[in-house]
Amino acid sequence: MAQDLLLPEFIYPRLKSHRLGKTIHHLLETGSTNDGARQLAEQGAPEGTLVLAEEQTRGRGRLGRSWLSERGAGIYASILFRPVLKPRDAAVLTLVAAVAGSEAIEHASRLNADIKWPNDLLLSGRKCCGILSEMQAERDDIRYVVVGIGINVNHSLFPEELGQRATSLRIEGKQTYSRVALLCEFLLRFELLYDDLQRGNLATVLQRWVDRSTFAFGKQVTVDLGSGRKLEGQTAGLSEVGNLKVKLADGHVEEVVSGDIVVWR
Ligand code: BTN
Repeated sequence: MAQDLLLPEFIYPRLKSHRLGKTIHHLLETGSTNDGARQLAEQGAPEGTLVLAEEQTRGRGRLGRSWLSERGAGIYASILFRPVLKPRDAAVLTLVAAVAGSEAIEHASRLNADIKWPNDLLLSGRKCCGILSEMQAERDDIRYVVVGIGINVNHSLFPEELGQRATSLRIEGKQTYSRVALLCEFLLRFELLYDDLQRGNLATVLQRWVDRSTFAFGKQVTVDLGSGRKLEGQTAGLSEVGNLKVKLADGHVEEVVSGDIVVWR
């Protein structure tokens, strides 16, 4: 599908966002689009700058994992933000990206993408999209945040070890989808939510996350907090800054700032 390359000349005519994607850097192959966006950020690139690749050779995931980035099959994109937020509040940007991704997938494919805290998107319980935000801050100010998103769009197959956990829109919807259309929809929704966030409407944004996630309330989970620490309990919504609240067996509610839900029922 040559017309579905993520080339700026295919994207600009369909772009409905005003700032996100206004400047596009398209690469056929790169290590990681997040690295490209960080470099551009250091050179003073404006907010909304978008780095896209058809293939990544060192795609990164959260917690030191890698992100499989098959040529031409997925969306591998990084967006540069210069938000007026305190560093401790920057994590909400990834929640915003997850809501935008879930909404865009539903709009483009009619598939219902669940959000697993903090920002994995799942179709039929398998991951179809991941988000990796990387921040550069100085003292109490954010210099920039790069939000990287990988969406498995037209992958027809995953390596065996991934197949149990990963899926694509194509596998679930039994058809291929336009990456350009999905990306443009994502950018628009992300921009609208980001504007809401910048206007101080964090509660509205978090409510949209809760509405789209079956993980928000009443899910029995084990959360891996890193360094061998684990937390077990039932999810009890998001805190006012987007942390996951987990009710422990003794009734005490813990807030998880960062971690990985490893088991859920
Ligand atoms: C995760 O679920 O662990 C996050 C995956 C993020 C993958 C995307 S693909 C585009 C951008 N570049 C990267 O190297 N990673 C992100």
